[in-house]
Amino acid sequence: MNKGNGKFLVMGSLNYDYIYALDHIVSEGETEAAEDVETVCGGKGLNQAIALAKAGAVVYQGGMLGEDGAMLRETLQQNGVNTEFLKNVQGRNGHAFIQVDSTGKNAIVLLGGSNRKLTNEQIQETLQSFSNEDYLVLQNEINDVEKVIDAGYKRGMKIVLNPSPYEEKIRSWPLSKINIFFVNEIEGRQLTGEKEPERIVNRMNEAFPHAEVILTLGTKGACYSHGKARLFQPAFRIKTVDTTAAGDTFTGFFLAAKARGENPAKCMEIAAKAAAIAATGKGAAPSIPLWEEVQKTQLNVYYEDIK
Ligand code: RIB
Repeated sequence: MNKGNGKFLVMGSLNYDYIYALDHIVSEGETEAAEDVETVCGGKGLNQAIALAKAGAVVYQGGMLGEDGAMLRETLQQNGVNTEFLKNVQGRNGHAFIQVDSTGKNAIVLLGGSNRKLTNEQIQETLQSFSNEDYLVLQNEINDVEKVIDAGYKRGMKIVLNPSPYEEKIRSWPLSKINIFFVNEIEGRQLTGEKEPERIVNRMNEAFPHAEVILTLGTKGACYSHGKARLFQPAFRIKTVDTTAAGDTFTGFFLAAKARGENPAKCMEIAAKAAAIAATGKGAAPSIPLWEEVQKTQLNVYYEDIK
């Protein structure tokens, strides 16, 4: 059920995630036996679309599915995401090889597959159905993100960018057209050249004065900034099982809460709690909670020094 205004279009990746449970993340030259492997639906696009839908937003996923993509489409539909703009192409879907260590930390190897076969025709055709009331949600796991930004901007959409995984080419994208950035500490450092969270946020604000900037810091919490406004949200205390998709859950819940009319402090709190709950479950999409679950779950916050 939609509780807010506007629709969300997520033009992003859909992956099969092969999740290997290991004692530790493998280092160079090392061979390690995995304790378990699971295949689940993931991809930053799919995870963020499902997080938005589970938080009650009206959400469409655009992009390209490979010949083996039927389960990804079904999973989106089962979670309430509209898939009418998802096109099928020849070849394999994207996939991710994910190592998860005994403390829940991960390392990911990506293969783009069909996610990198988006055409200009498909971008224009999809964007035609959206307007200035709607949000366009982007990450960096598909091709031609800069063209999607331009197309969304022409339609007056509110553009959200999670520049993940970070690549140098992102600096050449039309970033002044972005309304909301979601960056983690590493992406924030790479984008700004700064190390301290406060300096990252300040630098982002100077470069993009009209944009809202959300900097996530894992167990250290998250910072919000817009113009002169600054907020800090501590992380919630949980027993981490798998952090995969915790960041995607944060993004989806923040945006859905914003579309419901919540203020930035409430959006940050809801997003941080949803992300914490996601990290208590295994896998990407399957670990994302429902809005109601987030509302009723009681968790304590950490208070760590973010410096
Ligand atoms: O953000 C987590 C996601 O990153 C995983 O689901 C994986 O597919 C990679 O895209």
